[in-house]
Amino acid sequence: MDDLRDKYMRLIAGAADEAALEELRVQAVGKKGEISLKMRELGKMSPDERKEAGPRLNALKDEINGALAARKAALGDAALEERLRAEWLDVTLPARQRPAGTIHPVSQVTEEVTAIFADMGFAVAEGPQVETDWHNFDALNIPGHHPARAEMDTFYMARAEGDDRPPHVLRTHTSPVQIRSMLAHGAPLRVIAPGRVYRADYDQTHTPMFHQVEGLAIDTDITMANLKWCLEEFCRAFFEVDHVDLRFRASHFPFTEPSAEVDIRCSWEGGTLKLGEGDDWLEILGSGMVHPKVLAAGDIDPTAWQGFAFGMGIDRIAMLKYGIPDLRAFFDSDLRWLRHYGFGALDMPAIHAGLSR
Ligand code: DAH
Repeated sequence: MDDLRDKYMRLIAGAADEAALEELRVQAVGKKGEISLKMRELGKMSPDERKEAGPRLNALKDEINGALAARKAALGDAALEERLRAEWLDVTLPARQRPAGTIHPVSQVTEEVTAIFADMGFAVAEGPQVETDWHNFDALNIPGHHPARAEMDTFYMARAEGDDRPPHVLRTHTSPVQIRSMLAHGAPLRVIAPGRVYRADYDQTHTPMFHQVEGLAIDTDITMANLKWCLEEFCRAFFEVDHVDLRFRASHFPFTEPSAEVDIRCSWEGGTLKLGEGDDWLEILGSGMVHPKVLAAGDIDPTAWQGFAFGMGIDRIAMLKYGIPDLRAFFDSDLRWLRHYGFGALDMPAIHAGLSR
């Protein structure tokens, strides 16, 4: 019996899985198992022998059953342990990996500009990039013979042969959206219009497609003072500085009267641009009071309403804010450049959260 006990204890302790245990159970205490056969032999024994062997055999059977159960439980624990180890998951890790793509600086800056002007009550307006020459020029007080038409290096769309209506143009500025917004909504009006514009020009500071944002505010009592305040507020918020100095320089645009170009005070000390201090000035936009003829073209009565407008280069202010030296790189789609200058895809600019973080 001691041999049987030793043999089965050893085998049970070494059983690798439940199937092996079951086999051992059958082999030891199953109907035709070794212990069961021994129990049958009890019948051939003398009563004295039986009295001695019976309880010992029963005890051995119980012991083996106990060992089988204990081993089974241990195997189960080990299997659970292994599963827990293999399926371990750190639920505090971010659910998404940082996206491989980035937001282009032009998109980022467009969102920043939009957030700032939205905070001042400006809605976003849009117009087509393929524009009529009336919206792009005539309605903005740029008649056919006006030098500004030639200066804009306009791309003209082809017309079918025999169609001699004036050709459409790729809009040379976002100003035609002023006209479309006035015609669509009337006065009072407060909109910005960011978007693509086109001119046949290409060098380090010019690309044939670039981005502008137009601003237009019309009411009964809008003045240059409102224009100045809005632009100062915009620059402080956009460049994320406490103080900016703007210089309004008298200028000329056909669609505004009076007109001003706006420069921002800066320094180039040590080769890096600092805004808000120094003795240099950087031109950032054109602006003025909307010309009465432009209001009239937009079906707004110039004797009852007046307003300001401005136009700003988005790529240009992006270069200034983020220290990007060459405009052409904006449109090269070079992945290394995009990774370097791009912005996190899940961080939308918002005034309360800090625009660019
Ligand atoms: N449209 C002008 C340009 O493309 C910029 C501009 C100047 C827009 C003065 C305006 C403005 O609205 O008032 O150069």
